Amino acid sequence: MKVSTSILSIQDDVVSNLKKLNETDTDYIHLDVMDGKFVPRKTEDYTALKSYLFKPLDIHLMVEDVPSYLEHYACLKPDYITFHVEVNTKIEKLIHMIREKNIKVGISLKPDTPVSFLIPYLDEIDLVLVMSVEPGAGGQKFMESACDKIRFLDRLRKERNYSYVIEVDGGINHETKKQCEGADILVAGSFITNCDDYQKQIDMLR
Ligand code: DX5
Ligand code: ZN
Repeated sequence: MKVSTSILSIQDDVVSNLKKLNETDTDYIHLDVMDGKFVPRKTEDYTALKSYLFKPLDIHLMVEDVPSYLEHYACLKPDYITFHVEVNTKIEKLIHMIREKNIKVGISLKPDTPVSFLIPYLDEIDLVLVMSVEPGAGGQKFMESACDKIRFLDRLRKERNYSYVIEVDGGINHETKKQCEGADILVAGSFITNCDDYQKQIDMLR
């Protein structure tokens, strides 16, 4: 199981905490980008932290205007950029725009969005991000509705030979991870960064 560490819950001294995270073996750093429109909160500009982001990046765009944020964050050379299927832009166009930048494409869905909304795009994307909390904040409780979605997506990729990876995000800890069978990447924020020993927490998720 791979682990992607969300830095959303790091409150202060982000730079020294990022240095600490760089010393772990987290597979990715998960950057939660919020615009104050798609979700109520607006996050800071993470490009300012560029020289402290040494792990492969997994960027989760919780924004309405995906093209603008894509342009802005492409300079971080992320492995994945994930946007939400609920946005009001043609999904095919967004997939194409991310691909053109040689970045892998992820699509996410909120807990109340049926997984069937993703079906038209599953043969052309690299990652599905299943939200197990309402997007917008760290430290929420894992919602079990994610489990059926993970199982469905895992079964479908085997049946149809699709190549996307399945990532699950929200309320992940050493207990809830047991309910994520079929997922390939666990995103965890507070479970890792609210403790002193990041590596120990990451080991507990593997
Ligand atoms: C929620 C974010 C998550 C969040 C995870 O909107 O997408 O990535 O930071 O935090 P925890 O692990 O604390 O639920
Ligand atoms: Zn996230």
